[in-house]
Amino acid sequence: MKSIPKHIAVIMDGNGRWATKQGLNRTEGHRAGAKAIDSLLTSSLEFGLQNVSLYAFSTENWKRPILEVKSIFELLIEFITDRLDDIHSKGIRIKHSGSRNRIPKSALSSIDRAVERTSKNKTLTVNFCLNYGAKDEIIHAMNGLIQSRKSAKKDLLGKVTEKEFEKYLYTYPLPPVDLLIRTAGEQRISNFLLWQIAYAEVYFTKTLWPDFDRSALVDALQDYDKRIRKFGGL
Ligand code: FPP
Repeated sequence: MKSIPKHIAVIMDGNGRWATKQGLNRTEGHRAGAKAIDSLLTSSLEFGLQNVSLYAFSTENWKRPILEVKSIFELLIEFITDRLDDIHSKGIRIKHSGSRNRIPKSALSSIDRAVERTSKNKTLTVNFCLNYGAKDEIIHAMNGLIQSRKSAKKDLLGKVTEKEFEKYLYTYPLPPVDLLIRTAGEQRISNFLLWQIAYAEVYFTKTLWPDFDRSALVDALQDYDKRIRKFGGL
């Protein structure tokens, strides 16, 4: 492959449908989804990807039944408990993007522990988008920018540049997304990384997230490799 994206973002859709197809409950689908993350991390290291953002729980996912919401946060805790040593030993850095409000304390301390332990790692950044919504992120960034100007006694009405604004996004300092992947056949963005995907290539696949393996990633990367990116130029 000639070009490898610096940042891929994944909308991991289809866990529920995968479970139904296997005659399992939805939690088992999410558990299989967590296993697919293991495989994605292994392949990402193999292909030298530097940044992977994962849509693990959106600000809209609170509308789901409470038991399903609980099971996703429990799976996150389990994921970190089981894998943190291995993730750390591979030089993977964990980042969290999203609002801290409403996330159960146990899940928050688990993700904080992972972020802190891996903060100096450089091989691959895995950005867990948890309680993440792009509109929430933009409003949060705007408020953060105003607050910081206020505390620094700077002119509140001074011109805002993209560079200044971006510093307040949850994803800062990650680079823009080069490739956005959505599984399970839906062709929507669902409030994911709206600012960061401004010039991303978008790849949709019918594969359900738990079935998204190394060869599915290779297909996505090969498709990306064929795209001609002009960023509005000629
Ligand atoms: C979408 O599938 C998936 C989610 C909303 C949650 C993603 C969560 C995981 C991959 C597992 C959790 C693990 C960690 C480590 C956070 P869906 O439930 O919308 O599937 P459906 O559309 O087929 O019902």
